[in-house]
Amino acid sequence: MSTRTLIRGGLVVTAADELHADVLIEDGRVVALAAHGSDTAAGWTADRTVDATDRYVLPGGVDAHTHMELPFGGTSASDTFETGTRAAAWGGTTTIVDFAVQSVGHSLREGLDTWYAKADGNCVIDYAFHMILSDVNEQTLKEMDKLVQEGISSFKLFMAYPGVFYSDDGRILRAMQRSADNGGLIMMHAENGIAIDVLVEQALARGETDPRYHGEVRKALLEAEATHRAIQLARVAGAPLYVVHVSAEEAVAEIAAARDKGLPVFGETCPQYLFLSTDNLAEPGFEGAKYVCSTPLRPKEHQAALWRGLRTNDLQVVSTDHCPFCFVGQKDLGRGDFSKIPNGLPGVENRMDLLHQAVVDGHISRRRWIEIACATPARMFGLYPQKGTIAPGADADIVIYDPHATQILSAETHHMNVDYSAYEGKRVTGQVETVLSRGEPVIEQRKFTGRAGHGAFTPRATCQYLN
Ligand code: URP
Ligand code: ZN
Ligand code: ZN
Repeated sequence: MSTRTLIRGGLVVTAADELHADVLIEDGRVVALAAHGSDTAAGWTADRTVDATDRYVLPGGVDAHTHMELPFGGTSASDTFETGTRAAAWGGTTTIVDFAVQSVGHSLREGLDTWYAKADGNCVIDYAFHMILSDVNEQTLKEMDKLVQEGISSFKLFMAYPGVFYSDDGRILRAMQRSADNGGLIMMHAENGIAIDVLVEQALARGETDPRYHGEVRKALLEAEATHRAIQLARVAGAPLYVVHVSAEEAVAEIAAARDKGLPVFGETCPQYLFLSTDNLAEPGFEGAKYVCSTPLRPKEHQAALWRGLRTNDLQVVSTDHCPFCFVGQKDLGRGDFSKIPNGLPGVENRMDLLHQAVVDGHISRRRWIEIACATPARMFGLYPQKGTIAPGADADIVIYDPHATQILSAETHHMNVDYSAYEGKRVTGQVETVLSRGEPVIEQRKFTGRAGHGAFTPRATCQYLN
C-alpha cells in the first residue's frame, strides 16, 4: 500500500535554491514541491503531515568519511554501525560512506565482505563504502575494476602510517593509473609518513611524550609536501584526486594551485579543523589525547584558510572522519607515548549543527552549508540526485531543522558511543527536530523512532564531477 507524507510550511533549502514550499513524498521518494498556499499544494492529501512552519526543510546530510568499528591503533573505533548510524541520524545525517579495509596479504573482496557483514542489518540510515587499499598488487588492481562495477567507486590510499596502511609512490601511481581507466576516484591521506616516523622517534628520545607532540611532529609542511606529490602523481597517471581531511593552510594552497591549472583535484576538510586547534592538543594532563587525529589539529591561524577554501570552492566537502575512541580504555593506551594514542575523533552527530553555526557566524551561506554537507559529497561519490537534494525522484531523506533552537554539545546528551565530546560545552544555534530516511521517520520531534536494519547498502555510480 502506498504511503503519502506531506511536509507543510517550511523553507526548503538545497544547494541551488531556497523555496517556501510544501513537499509531497510517496513510497519513500519525493514526488513534488509546490509553493505554500498554491492550488497544487492545497489539493494534496496525505496519510501523515509534518508541520515545518518556521523550520528549514533540508536534504539529509551525506557524511562521506566515517570509520565505524575500524580496527586501528591496537583497538577498534567505539561506534558500531548501529550506534554510529543512530547518532548520525540524531545529527541530521541520513547517508554515510564508510571505509572497508583491505588488510595486507588479503584481497579487496575479503575486506569488503567483512564490512558488508558488519553493516548488514545494523544500520539505521543508508550507507555505502569506499575501499582502503593497503596492499596494491596485480590482483588488487584487477579487483578495483570489479568493485567499481559493484558500486564501490572510490579507493583510499595512505602516504602515512608505514607498516599499516602505507603505500609507496610506485603503488600509488599504479592504483591511480588503474582508476584513470576504471573511473574510480583515489582518495589520499596526504602526509609524509616516512619523515613523520623519524620525527616521532626523535621526539620520544627527547622525552617529548605528551599528546601535544603529536601535532608538532606531524608538520604542516609534511602534509603540504605529500599533497603536492599526490597531485603530481595523479597528473602523471591522468587520474582525478580527492584529498581527505585537509588541515594545513599550505595543503589548501597546493589544492588551489592544482585547481587553478584546471586539474580534477578535490579537497575535503572536517569540522575538527574548522573549530578546534593545537590549543586543544595542549590541554593539561592527558586531556589533549581526546584531540589526537591525523592529519593533526593545526594552530588556529590555519582555520581562516580552510573557511576561505570552502567559500571559494578550493575545498568542496566537509566530512567528519568520525573515528571515535573512548578516553578511558582506548585513548589512554598512549599515556607516556603520544604515538600510541589511537588516532581519531568522534563527530558524526555534530557536523550539520557545527556547519549551521558557521552559517550563523557568517563563514558560509545557508545554501553553501547544504552544498558542502549534502549535495557535493553526494555528487562526488556518485549518489546524486538520489541523495543530497530535495527534488522529484530523490530519496525522501529529509531533515526538519529548527534554526532558532540552541543546544550545548556534550557527552552527556550525545548519542555517539564514546565517553567524551570533542566540543564539550560548545553552544550552538540550530537543532535537528525530525528526520526522515526514505520517507520513514527516524527522529520525530527529537524522539528516536528508527530501527536498525532500515538502512540499506547503497551502490554508487562514479564521481559525477568528471563526466
Ligand atoms: O585520525 C584519523 N584520521 N583516524 C582515522 C583514519 C584516517 O586516517 O582517516
Ligand atoms: Zn586518513
Ligand atoms: Zn578517515
